[in-house]
Amino acid sequence: MFFITSGPLHFRAFFSFLAFFGFAAAALTGAVLFMTPEGRIAYWTGWTFAGLTKTAWGNVHIVSGLLFLLAGAIHVVYSGKTLLSYVKRKAGGGVRLKRELATSGVLALIVLAGGALEFPPFGRVFLLNERLKDFWINSRNFEPLFGHAERVSLRVFTRRLDIDLDQALKELDANNIQVKDPGDSLEEIAGQNSLAPIDIYRAIRSLEPVQEDLGRAGGSHSKGARAILCRKRDRPKDPGGDMSGNGL
Ligand code: HEM
Repeated sequence: MFFITSGPLHFRAFFSFLAFFGFAAAALTGAVLFMTPEGRIAYWTGWTFAGLTKTAWGNVHIVSGLLFLLAGAIHVVYSGKTLLSYVKRKAGGGVRLKRELATSGVLALIVLAGGALEFPPFGRVFLLNERLKDFWINSRNFEPLFGHAERVSLRVFTRRLDIDLDQALKELDANNIQVKDPGDSLEEIAGQNSLAPIDIYRAIRSLEPVQEDLGRAGGSHSKGARAILCRKRDRPKDPGGDMSGNGL
């Protein structure tokens, strides 16, 4: 049961609680970040978890981590005397404390080295991290066409896909997607329409040059053409992909 009492604020308790809440929030948001999809997928598909985007989870994690560090530091300053006398008292413990200090120090070093060098069983943690991140990707259609495709303007995006910009604008309009300025990034246009960047692409992907256009009877394709052919083969005609599953 909580009681709000009058009188002066007990600063030591206040900063202890603040540090605790900061740590709890950093640990919780850290756990979510551990399993978020890779950035390229998250930003392209507009991935959210519990209503927050990957960026928002990262931001909350950073501020809660800072809250923990700051409040923790103030807590240590406020409790300086008590902490110091505790350490002095324990230091008198001699051999036992030295042994504990040494073994915990060595263990911490092994853990840090395990993280850096990924030797067993630490490698498994990173494997789990990878698996959890991949868990969200239940369709190859969620892969962006190129790195940070969401950040390029519609004008550049259509040029890269060999799509006529005017036709794309008409198609988007027909799909009730408003474009204020073709110079806006896909991310901005998606945001203005409460959609994800992938939805903008899905609305205009039927305008991409068809495979036959690129072919030459019995001949080979140029490097660029081959790249587009591969892309088309990788992604089936139905853009589908179950975005409802796995929270996407
Ligand atoms: C409480 C325990 C904490 C846990 C379990 C935790 C866990 C994590 C995880 C899993 C990530 C994502 C790593 C990745 O990109 O794969 C992360 C990122 C990060 N953490 Fe923590 N963390 C903790 C505390 C803190 C604290 C105290 C700070 C200090 C401010 C901090 C600052 C950051 C920053 C700056 C990032 C990068 C965020 C981004 O790229 O958006 N974390 N953390």
